[in-house]
Amino acid sequence: MMNRTLRFFLINSILLLSIQGTAQTYAKNGMVVSSDRTSSEIGVEILKKGGNAIDAAIATAFSLAVTHPAAGNIGGGGFIVFMNRDGKVTTLDFREKAPLAATPDMYLDDDGKVIEDSNHKTAKAIGVPGTVAGLYMAHQKYGKLSWKELVQPAIDQAEKGFPFNWSLYRAANRFHEQEDGTEFMKNYFLTKKGTIPEPGDLWKQPQLAETLKLIRDKGRDGFYKGSTATKIASWMKENGGLITKKDLKKYEAIERKPIQGNYKGYDIYSMPPPSSGGVVLVEMMNLMELADFKKAEFNSAAHLHLLIEAMRRAYADRAEHLGDPDFNPDIPIEKLTSKAFAQKRFAGIDMSRASVSDSTKYGHPYDGESTTHLSTMDKFGNAVSMTYTLEYSYGSKLGSTELGFIFNNEMGDFNPQPGITNSRGQIGSQPNLIAPEKRMLSSMTPTIVGKNGKPYLVIGSPGGRTIINTVFQTTLNVLEFEMRIDKAIEALKIHHQWLPDQVVYEKDLLSPDTRKILESMGHTFRERYNMGALMGITYDSDKKLMTGASDAAQPDSGASGY
Ligand code: DON
Repeated sequence: MMNRTLRFFLINSILLLSIQGTAQTYAKNGMVVSSDRTSSEIGVEILKKGGNAIDAAIATAFSLAVTHPAAGNIGGGGFIVFMNRDGKVTTLDFREKAPLAATPDMYLDDDGKVIEDSNHKTAKAIGVPGTVAGLYMAHQKYGKLSWKELVQPAIDQAEKGFPFNWSLYRAANRFHEQEDGTEFMKNYFLTKKGTIPEPGDLWKQPQLAETLKLIRDKGRDGFYKGSTATKIASWMKENGGLITKKDLKKYEAIERKPIQGNYKGYDIYSMPPPSSGGVVLVEMMNLMELADFKKAEFNSAAHLHLLIEAMRRAYADRAEHLGDPDFNPDIPIEKLTSKAFAQKRFAGIDMSRASVSDSTKYGHPYDGESTTHLSTMDKFGNAVSMTYTLEYSYGSKLGSTELGFIFNNEMGDFNPQPGITNSRGQIGSQPNLIAPEKRMLSSMTPTIVGKNGKPYLVIGSPGGRTIINTVFQTTLNVLEFEMRIDKAIEALKIHHQWLPDQVVYEKDLLSPDTRKILESMGHTFRERYNMGALMGITYDSDKKLMTGASDAAQPDSGASGY
């Protein structure tokens, strides 16, 4: 038998050889970029069969629920931005909802304080999942191939297995060794023999395959009704969760008008509330349109200062105003995304000094991993930008072994303590307080930039509150600094979110000289290894050429095209 170390080395080398990294991938007929290369390839197979960008996104998303369970899911929720071949844009909201039994103070102790981690690490943190309803609605309204054809590849991957990759291998070991981890995650990756698969071994998920078969055969009802709904509801009852069969039956995805902005002749389309992504992105792009980049070259202190001051202002507005629009009918979206508002906001920026975030006002903590983004384009000229999530990496880390998928912990995106906003980052503002059936505020920013009515850039990222900023900088890198998509994705990213009043930056990518200049202007810094995992496509409509690139932060990710 082959020596274990040698086998390890060989598989490692094979996997490394096949990694496309962030090098650009070109295609003329169709492109899919996602967090898992095998899932991107499944999307491309759907395109080759005559499917459109929506079909490819649906098949890729179901596949990611199998291959990238840290964030790919059927137990979470997300958003789609869709530009059709005529340049018309719509969005689908399949964000999770608070269960009917949820209340604004459900995470508080008798003294009115948040019980630590209760909104993230308990069965009560699970929101009513939206993914299956969202993908089903996308198919009903805009799909081309049959629903069955789109779900089947994921079933095959779950049933017959797919090569266990390094990300999964590392996660499996981590969960196995974790003393305070959940039983569900400890056992999640194990083979029938009770062992962790080796990298390259075929990993099978028979329970997940059965759950997916019901979705294949019965559509959304295969998840929200019948035996899956019964099993979810009884698991909730046994484990202290709130979701009932009624919650599941009542869940609906919603089609919404996109947030629209423009930057120097490009049209920007992104996600409206309950995501904060589109509003904050457009506000920041409007601010950038007023900047003079001849005096603020890429990565100069002046450039970074402008980014930070735009972020500070837009995130303060986010915290004050944004929440589920069905519960907050008066969100001033038009004002926040207007050029006139940007003029006023821009006038307050002092190019020689950092502004001060007022600690009596708004702010929010950073998020951990993980969410995932995918971008697709087809030969007909349709494009899809889709981000979906379980909130944390592997969500609540809870699930029913009978069903084989992981539940989200998205309730943690609500403001947990009414009225309490502090400089540590907790927000207590009204628009995002918990209420039955309300959708929690998101930062996911699936975005499509159009030029002359055709897609020009399809982009998005995971990263919690950093998402809006990484999408913002990548978009600016492409539109203003005319960077290639792979360069735009890999370039330095910084993050400021109003409170805490500090700039987070990617280690090794910010010049210490520049940092010192910015520090002398009053900015404070904190380093982080990496930010975001952007998955993007640019399109040259004259040459009909698609260029895709995925973030090197995710070693198993990849752009695939034909
Ligand atoms: O919807 C949101 O904004 C968050 N739940 C996303 C979480 C996330 O991106 C974590 N990942 N990297």
